[in-house]
Amino acid sequence: MVDTEEIMELSLQLAGLKEVPEDSAIYVNGSDIRKVLFCIDAGVPELLLAKKLGYDAVVAHHPLGGTAAINFHQVFRRHIQQMVQVGVPWEEAEKTVEKKLLALEVQGHIRNYAHVVDVAKLLKMPYMNIHTPLDEVGRRIMSERIHNRIRENSTVQDVVYALEELKEFKNAVTDIKIRLGKAENPSGKVVMSHGAGTNGGFEIAETYFEHGIGTVVYIHVSPMDLEKLKVEGKGNLIVTGHIASDSVGINPLIHELEKKEVFVTRIGVVPS
Ligand SMILES: [Fe+2]
Ligand SMILES: [Fe+2]
Repeated sequence: MVDTEEIMELSLQLAGLKEVPEDSAIYVNGSDIRKVLFCIDAGVPELLLAKKLGYDAVVAHHPLGGTAAINFHQVFRRHIQQMVQVGVPWEEAEKTVEKKLLALEVQGHIRNYAHVVDVAKLLKMPYMNIHTPLDEVGRRIMSERIHNRIRENSTVQDVVYALEELKEFKNAVTDIKIRLGKAENPSGKVVMSHGAGTNGGFEIAETYFEHGIGTVVYIHVSPMDLEKLKVEGKGNLIVTGHIASDSVGINPLIHELEKKEVFVTRIGVVPS
């Protein structure tokens, strides 16, 4: 048995984070939780389903409501640290995130943030979402896998092979794609860019390429950003696939819950 606080705490521990990031929150507290419905996306239908099937709590990955939906853009700043870590000057990293950060803030402002949360309250269904902590868990797993496998003469394809060893990618319907550059290109320095709300789009990939990174790995990218990157023609971009990659970070938490004898049903999560 666990409570909602313990579930959040467990995710922070796995991610090595001290505080709950702005894109994650508990909306309806719950205790004595034995049965969890764990969804990548959980809105009103999933809350009703959980009620109907006798679950004690709904845990979502993506923030669909509450403060987490409104403050979501703030975690995008995590891209700054990631860029600085591989040698991008701080001011340049700050400048690089500006445009998409503003776009995310403007978009967040549109959201009907109270809707799902109010439904959860009416149903008295414990409800929370854990986004960045689990993406950080996934980033570490994927980054470690890449850096344990690649050598100085590795190619872009070798990076793909390294990632494909993870069970989530073996089990997913989607494939890992090389969206920019060629499989036989030298990988050069590789960055796993993830765990910062959403992908860094055109600007962040381009900044990495300008600062000596040969291959950037995103979990998703918009067709428009990809087009722009292709026009510039620098570097290599591997895109691992949204749901499979989110699952890489989600499964470790589910396994921890199962160790505590919590029964977890997955919706949309690729099994490991
Ligand atoms: Fe995610
Ligand atoms: Fe996601």
